[in-house]
Amino acid sequence: MSEVVKIFAPGSVSNVGCGFDILGFAIDGVGDEMILKKNDKNAIIIDPVKDYENLPTDPKKNVAGVAIQALLDDLNSDQGFDVEIIKNIKPGSGIGSSAASAAGAVVAVNELLGKPYTKMQLVDFAMKGEELASGDVHADNVAPATLGGFCLIRGYNPLDIVHINPPKDLWCTVIHPQIEIKTKESRELLSPEVPLKKAIRQWGNVAGLMSGLYTSDYGLIGRSLEDHIVEPQRKVLIPEFDKLKESVMNAGALGCSISGSGPSVFSLAKGRESADAIAAAMDTVFKNTNLDYKIYVSKISEGGVRVI
Ligand code: HSE
Repeated sequence: MSEVVKIFAPGSVSNVGCGFDILGFAIDGVGDEMILKKNDKNAIIIDPVKDYENLPTDPKKNVAGVAIQALLDDLNSDQGFDVEIIKNIKPGSGIGSSAASAAGAVVAVNELLGKPYTKMQLVDFAMKGEELASGDVHADNVAPATLGGFCLIRGYNPLDIVHINPPKDLWCTVIHPQIEIKTKESRELLSPEVPLKKAIRQWGNVAGLMSGLYTSDYGLIGRSLEDHIVEPQRKVLIPEFDKLKESVMNAGALGCSISGSGPSVFSLAKGRESADAIAAAMDTVFKNTNLDYKIYVSKISEGGVRVI
């Protein structure tokens, strides 16, 4: 059994338009790296955390620490670990920063302990870390970050996750305006009530999206990438959202919406060429603002967290 492991933990796009808290997919184009080592101090030591000095190093306040502790509690183990997190995904980005740390941590610890759990079982532990970051239980980033592909969270109690392999030619383009939106605050914005008429449209879209993914029906995927409930409430937080969406759709996107709780915005496309054209359209909208931004073009990650 190795004593040290280095992993790549992918970013992820949750909600995917119509599936608030129940749908997400992982992307290989951006992700964190983590190096975990066993220690003989019976403690989780998160140090150093490179690049983002403001990330908490107290394991009880750090998503990776909380997720690892949940796994160790389940095993009744007091094994200690040194955890180095190389953050490439900025916290508050909407592309699964906390999920990458939580998923990466539990996959790495599982490796170092001889794989007592399946990846599917690890999602439960990763979710405990995510809960710390958003103040709410949701697996739509941690499940795809851990497992790869698309994940449908059919139910939370008990956790029931359906993993869906992505259609072969499905590409994602994400723009990350460099402002921070805290998931907790973005959730507090949302009305707890959903009018029945909107719910009906949303159910149709979730079912359509699932069917489109299973049958690689890109047209159906595109028609289903609509969100009548959350996007209208949250888009006010995102600079240039309407302009961006219009340009992206004109550039040939299948659909476009807010990535997770924002500020990132994602689109899906058939083929690399189309995904690149969307990236150029996003760039055109943002280059005349005085906001910093990053654009990622990526295939859907097939395997989630991986040892590197
Ligand atoms: N589904 C969650 C939300 C994801 O939209 O609040 C947070 O990244």
